[in-house]
Amino acid sequence: MAKASDPIGIFDSGIGGLTVARAVKNLLPDESIIYFGDTAHLPYGDKSTAAIQAYSIKICDIFLQRNCKVILIACNSASAAATDLVKAYVGKKAKVFNVIEPVVNYIRETRRNTCIGLIGTKQTIGSKVYQTKIEGLENQLRLNSLATPLLVPMIEEGFLEGTISQDIINEYLKKPILQNISALILGCTHYPLIKEQVAHFYENTIEVIDSSEIVAKSLKAYLEYNLLINNQGHSSNQFMVSDYTKSFEELTKLFFVERVHLEKYKLWE
Ligand code: DGL
Repeated sequence: MAKASDPIGIFDSGIGGLTVARAVKNLLPDESIIYFGDTAHLPYGDKSTAAIQAYSIKICDIFLQRNCKVILIACNSASAAATDLVKAYVGKKAKVFNVIEPVVNYIRETRRNTCIGLIGTKQTIGSKVYQTKIEGLENQLRLNSLATPLLVPMIEEGFLEGTISQDIINEYLKKPILQNISALILGCTHYPLIKEQVAHFYENTIEVIDSSEIVAKSLKAYLEYNLLINNQGHSSNQFMVSDYTKSFEELTKLFFVERVHLEKYKLWE
């Protein structure tokens, strides 16, 4: 039985999922989080579904051992590849959230009879999970998606503003498939960092959907409804990675606003 004081487990292929952890901490500052970045196996965006599923289950074991009340799959690629398996594996031991379902619910409530764009990794786009879910709604929606694999390394190298990054962003966004859309889903942990540049390309005429905020809101609503908000007045945060380098630790500042200490945890002996 979950307790309000239990932590929230959040995982990603690496450090990028800290954008989701940041959004969660902004909205739910008293919650304790355990973050796991699978830096030994990143990027997930180019991995097979089977590989991502195996890593995800291993990570869930860590969270279950630590009695997490919620397991949040912060990575879009893992959300696309492993949600069903993770839910079956975790069962009633914890509530499983991903970064796709809350966005689909948000779109159900806000969009009808229109075309929506999506950008993400090759894994996320290739899985067609967003497409199946959004076009399966009874809202007469079409989803046009494009894999934009250069954006993750670009952001990790710190190219957020300036001509180089805006040129790369523009090259992707000017493709015909991303025209005549009323909203664009940022379907990757890293993309909230270039939200303004994306909005700039469309001259602020479309909604740029940042899943990290939507996911945090939906998590908050779940915790409130189920009386699982931690009201003990203190929280602790732990950040683990499957492979440690100094540059991963430096990157935490980019994604989490403040730099955090990373602990190494070996996924496989
Ligand atoms: N976290 C991944 C995602 O949201 C991006 C980085 C990767 O490919 O591992 O899809």
